Amino acid sequence: NSAIGSTTDTTTGTTTVITNIGSLVTNDPSLGDGSPLGLIQDAAVVIEGDRVVWTGEASKAPTTDNRVDAGGRAVLPGFVDSHSHLVFAGDRTQEFNARMSGRGYTAGGIRTTVAATRAATDAELEANLTRYLREALHQGTTTFETKSGYGLTVEDEARALRIAAAHTDEVTYLGAHIVSPDYADDPAAYVALVTGEMLDACAPYARWVDVFCEKGAFDGDQARAILTAGKTKGLRPRVHANQLSYGPGVRLAVELDAASADHCTHLTDADVDALANSDTVATLLPGAEFSTRAQWPDARRLLDAGVTVALSTDCNPGSSFTSSVPFCVALAVRDMGMTPDEAVWSATAGGARALRRTDVGRLTPGAYADLTLLDAPSHVHLAYRPGVPLVSGVWRRGVRII
Ligand code: NIG
Ligand code: FE
Repeated sequence: NSAIGSTTDTTTGTTTVITNIGSLVTNDPSLGDGSPLGLIQDAAVVIEGDRVVWTGEASKAPTTDNRVDAGGRAVLPGFVDSHSHLVFAGDRTQEFNARMSGRGYTAGGIRTTVAATRAATDAELEANLTRYLREALHQGTTTFETKSGYGLTVEDEARALRIAAAHTDEVTYLGAHIVSPDYADDPAAYVALVTGEMLDACAPYARWVDVFCEKGAFDGDQARAILTAGKTKGLRPRVHANQLSYGPGVRLAVELDAASADHCTHLTDADVDALANSDTVATLLPGAEFSTRAQWPDARRLLDAGVTVALSTDCNPGSSFTSSVPFCVALAVRDMGMTPDEAVWSATAGGARALRRTDVGRLTPGAYADLTLLDAPSHVHLAYRPGVPLVSGVWRRGVRII
């Protein structure tokens, strides 16, 4: 009999202790071993309603109505996936196949998904979204951001955001994903639409505004105009920056105090310095480099410079069709120079920073009771046992879902 036994759950009352946790990630450096993860061995977490009310050593836990025995397994905050594109229809299997036969990724395939998404009914988009959310939840994701960007008309962008907003508060307006094919001859008119009528229709459903700042998508001046227009409507900026080439995206993100610059694959020293001296998080999306066979972002360089790093899936049908944060953690450790501790921090607390949230990504009093239980003795196993479905329990807002 190993210490990692089965879990028993007898939840009926108002307070619940999850106890006999072999190793607990709190992300509070004042707790436990004093590391950024605030690791506590032989730990317990007490939940009341949708919140954590106590975290510490199991032997000191207060008495509660209900008791869940974690059987010596590891518990960590639910993952905060701060970057995904989940409102779409169709897939891009052929494009992936062609890429794996040697063709490069250009983001031109976005048009394929735009056509399929426009042709889909609301019910089809809703069904797709809930399918990928269920996948993510089963892999430990309890907070997720998602974007529009596959509609590129006023109606199709607004409907994508309306559908997303029924499932998450972290909704991002990405009308500026690419220039709509309908405006191929007049990109300036498309920017006017994105900053005008489309923004007006979309702002009520969104918290964030994003732009794909890249050659072939939007240049620095267009991106600045789009993000600034979004800010005037109360949306906060985040940027697809420096994914496929060097460019102005990261410095623009810092200039506008964006919560996050996402991708960050091609960075100059000036880009790294700008991030290090800002509140803008660098969100790394290794699923994209995996699925496009591109060079890995250099997480080590960013961390050593003092940049805050988040890890997310970028789940979308083109460049990164994975909903698995554990997979991204394993890639980041194997190929991007992160330690397992750093990668787990970035996928939880880092994601929360990228969304400017303090109520998720940590397991300390006041935070939402969003927890992931692993069928493993420590969080390190997320990287040590890649591809293995270790997530064996998930609580979201205090409710056990898995
Ligand atoms: O984050 N870079 C732009 N957008 C997505 C890719 C979208 C697609 O290929 O459909 C990304 O990688
Ligand atoms: Fe993306």
